[in-house]
Order: sequence, then structure tokens, then C-alpha cells
Amino acid sequence: MNTKLKKIAVMTSGGDSPGMNAAIRAVVRTSAYYDVTCIGIYQGYQGMIEANFVELNARSVHNIINKGGTMLQSARSVEFRTPEGRAKAHANLLAEGIEGLIVIGGDGTFTGGMIFNQEFDFPIIGIPCTIDNDIFGTQYTLGYDTALNTVVEAIDKIRDTASSHNRLFFVEVMGRDAGFIALNAGIGAGAEEILIPEENIGLDKMLESLIKSKEAGKTSSIVVVAEGEKTGKNTFELAEYVEENLPEYDVRVSVLGHMQRGGAPSCFDRVLASRYGVSAVELLLSGASNLMVGFVNNQIQYTALDKAVKEHHNIDQELMRVSDIISI
Ligand code: F6P
Repeated sequence: MNTKLKKIAVMTSGGDSPGMNAAIRAVVRTSAYYDVTCIGIYQGYQGMIEANFVELNARSVHNIINKGGTMLQSARSVEFRTPEGRAKAHANLLAEGIEGLIVIGGDGTFTGGMIFNQEFDFPIIGIPCTIDNDIFGTQYTLGYDTALNTVVEAIDKIRDTASSHNRLFFVEVMGRDAGFIALNAGIGAGAEEILIPEENIGLDKMLESLIKSKEAGKTSSIVVVAEGEKTGKNTFELAEYVEENLPEYDVRVSVLGHMQRGGAPSCFDRVLASRYGVSAVELLLSGASNLMVGFVNNQIQYTALDKAVKEHHNIDQELMRVSDIISI
């Protein structure tokens, strides 16, 4: 590849997710392949401000493709939100001779990257990485597939105890603004009802559905609740509401929490991370900027960062329909 860039940098930022290490590895090795130096920036934008840099080579990223978390660590930097903080970060990049940046993260990370690009005309490419899968321009963010498998495995275990005691379990999963994890893991784990932020089914419909389940002869049930769902009650309040209105149910709550963000990435996420890493470096070296790599219809596609941040990746209505049909 004919490239003018001789030194680029990579960092992870925002909430971590499985697959970040595999993406770092792919970025570093692709850089080495094209004879370009790759600098790792620790702790995201905060590390840029503090010049917390390390030179990485193909061997520095051995044995990490299978590891959760991020070897470069992640942070949410308050200082980077200020013009002074960004100016410091820019000066540090220039002093180190870094000519382009690959940011691995979600919409907050991309927003920071766009502002930085506008202010300093600094080349930036984004790799979408969040378990929430809520980024426009890709059908799969890194970490989402692993999180789905983690959630399904946890719910399978909860179902064992639920059925032993004829209980109803409310299982809360992550997804502050998006129901992708709840909907897909809910279907995969055979949930009776799924509550997501995108679709407020209402408390009455939830009660109705639970009554129907009992009438249909179900002795135990699982309701999957995305943390950002919109009934106006949190998961514990929802459980109390059901206990008050349907006293025949013995209800329990299980909040899965941050365990959903950890663990070894699935094979799907490792392959995706590798493809994203190669494409992101090749894009940057070709002179492109302000783009995010994504995966659509089994192919890598590019989306402008501002579009990826501003537009919505909608829930598949067909999945809602499937869930309604098969949960009778
Ligand atoms: O990574 C996204 C996410 O998992 C959300 O679903 C969740 O609300 C949030 O991160 C929690 O992140 P933190 O505890 O790091 O603030």
C-alpha cells in the first residue's frame, strides 16, 4: 500500500466490551504488515492528554485475541470535553509524531473523535465496540455477540432454578437506551415476555401475558427486562407490581449487571474484530478520515462518523413478532 503515514495510534474508550483486545491486535499487526509504527494510547482520551503512550509491535499483542477487557484500558475523560484538554492531547500526538488515530468504542468515543477532527483536522477512523449494539451503520458492534451468549447462558441457569420452584423471574440485562441484548437473548433463552426501551408494551399487557402463561399451563416464567425499558418502573418495582396484582406468582429478580461486559470474546467477535482492525488501518493509510467501519449483510461497509452517531439502528420488528408468537 502506498501510504504517506508512518506512525498511527490506537486506543479504546468508553464502556469496555469483549473483542476490544482482538481489535487492538488486528490494528497493531496490520500496521506492522504495512511497515507503519503503531502507538497504543492507555485509557482513551485521558491517556492522550497525559501522553500515556506505548509503542506496540506484532509481538506485544500476542495471546490477547481470547481475552476480555482491554489491554489499553478505557476511561471516560472529563478533561477531553474541554478545548484546553483537546489542545493538550493534540500537542502530545504531534510531539510523538502520530499522524492518524483509530478509536475503538461507542457513540461517545466517536463524538469526541469528530470534535477533535474538526478542531485539528486530525485523521480518525472508528471501530464500533459496545455490547449494546446501538450504533448506526453496522448490524454488529464488537462485543454484542459475546454478551448475548453470556446472557443466554445465565438465563438458562436461572431457568433451572425457576422451574424447580415454579417461580417467575425478572432478569435485568444491560441496554440503557437499546433493547438489542434483551430482545435477542430473550428469544434465545425462551423468555415469556421481553421489555425493551424501544417498545413500551405497558403494564396491563405484561400482566395479561403472564395470566395467559399461567392459563396455558406454564409453571415458571422468565421476563427479560432491558435496564432502559420504559414502563416507568425499575425491575424491582415491576416485580413488586406483579406480586401485588398476581399473588399466585412467586417472583424473584436477577440483575445480571457488568458480568455481561466481561469474558472471552466469542469466535464471531474475534473474527469481526480482526476484520474491523484490518479495514480500519487500511482506510486510515489510504488517506480516509471520519469514517466508521461496520458489518452489513456479511460485508465490511463504511459510514460517516456523524451519521453513525446521529442516526438510529432500529430494532427489528420481525423479531418482536417472532417473540410474541413463540412465547405462547
Ligand atoms: O456499554 C454500554 C453499557 O453496557 C450500558 O448498557 C450500561 O448502561 C452502561 O454501559 C453502564 O456502564 P458504566 O457502568 O460503565 O457506566
